[in-house]
Amino acid sequence: MLSSKIAGIGKYLPANVVTNQDLTAYMETSNEWIVERTGIQERRYAHRTEETTTTMAVEAAKIAIERAGTTAEEIDFIIFATLSPDYYFPGCGVLVQRAMGMKEIGALDIRNQCSGFVYALSVADQFIKTGMYKNILVIGSEKHSFGLDFSTRGRNVSVIFGDGAGAVVIRRADESETDAPGRVLSTVMGTDGTLADVLKVPGGGSACPITPENVELHPNTIHMEGRETFKHAVTRMLEASQQALEIAGLTAADVSLVIPHQANARIISAIAERLNLPLDRVFMNLDKYGNTSAATIPVALDEANKAGRLKKGDVVLLVAFGGGFTWASSVVRW
Ligand code: UT7
Repeated sequence: MLSSKIAGIGKYLPANVVTNQDLTAYMETSNEWIVERTGIQERRYAHRTEETTTTMAVEAAKIAIERAGTTAEEIDFIIFATLSPDYYFPGCGVLVQRAMGMKEIGALDIRNQCSGFVYALSVADQFIKTGMYKNILVIGSEKHSFGLDFSTRGRNVSVIFGDGAGAVVIRRADESETDAPGRVLSTVMGTDGTLADVLKVPGGGSACPITPENVELHPNTIHMEGRETFKHAVTRMLEASQQALEIAGLTAADVSLVIPHQANARIISAIAERLNLPLDRVFMNLDKYGNTSAATIPVALDEANKAGRLKKGDVVLLVAFGGGFTWASSVVRW
């Protein structure tokens, strides 16, 4: 049976560092509140005009492709996860195809918010297993900074988000490659649409077009009931992790490293505690980048890899949660 492996990882973070202190110029907040409630110290904001969700994605993709020992020519499908696309349409996938001069391959945009990258990984895994594609470029990229409410009213949301991009090349592993690093052992996905209103960008779609009358309410920015989101994030990420591990025939005790979606250090600690895993087996970099939604996991994967934390034979658990609500998890053997 065919299986897939993560063959190359890349990331791109904009150079502009925005500290918690910097945010106090726009809203009533403090470094102490943000650090204590979220663990975030700083985040990156893309250049207002020169960097977009797609340009950041392209930089991450170039690195992932090079590290996979291949070229853009050899990629036969693109899957792009984002909640902050350059345009309502066309999607960022086709913009990457154009920017990288790729062949006229398929490009699919995934709209599953902070779970988007793990959803994209799962979709890529299925295309590999059927034998349809051999090298799939999977991207998570976000430019949140243009779509946040920086007034005090929006502070619970705006302080947590940051910009950035991560990309991986998912490659077919044939039967002889039973110990290839980065093999995807399982993926699971879930949704609960009854809670769709708890975390969303309410305006700009067909249900609520932006008009001169509603523009003052900032309908084009992220609205979130933080506590409700927090509660479900812990429960669903825990369940998804357990399901993905069970499908892989493993338990939490087998996990060498958890790479969770980076939304809040308290959410991550709560999951680690419930999985009975010490925090040194959980990767966290949200102190530097905040919540980059679909980009958090590929960015963290890249940093974990660089730090030598993905060792041969390691069981790596990826798990994410986001608006929808949506959640997804994957077990990867390094
Ligand atoms: O990535 C997708 C999924 N997203 C998440 O998983 C995020 C989940 N939620 C969270 O991480 C947290 O709910 C937040 C970090 C967003 C907010 O933390 P919280 O402890 O739940 O705060 P809260 O919204 O319940 O607000 C508590 C208090 C309020 O003041 P009062 O009413 O108690 O006087 C807020 O007005 O904290 C106030 N507050 C702030 N104060 C200073 C909210 N945001 C801020 C702020 N600075 N930035």
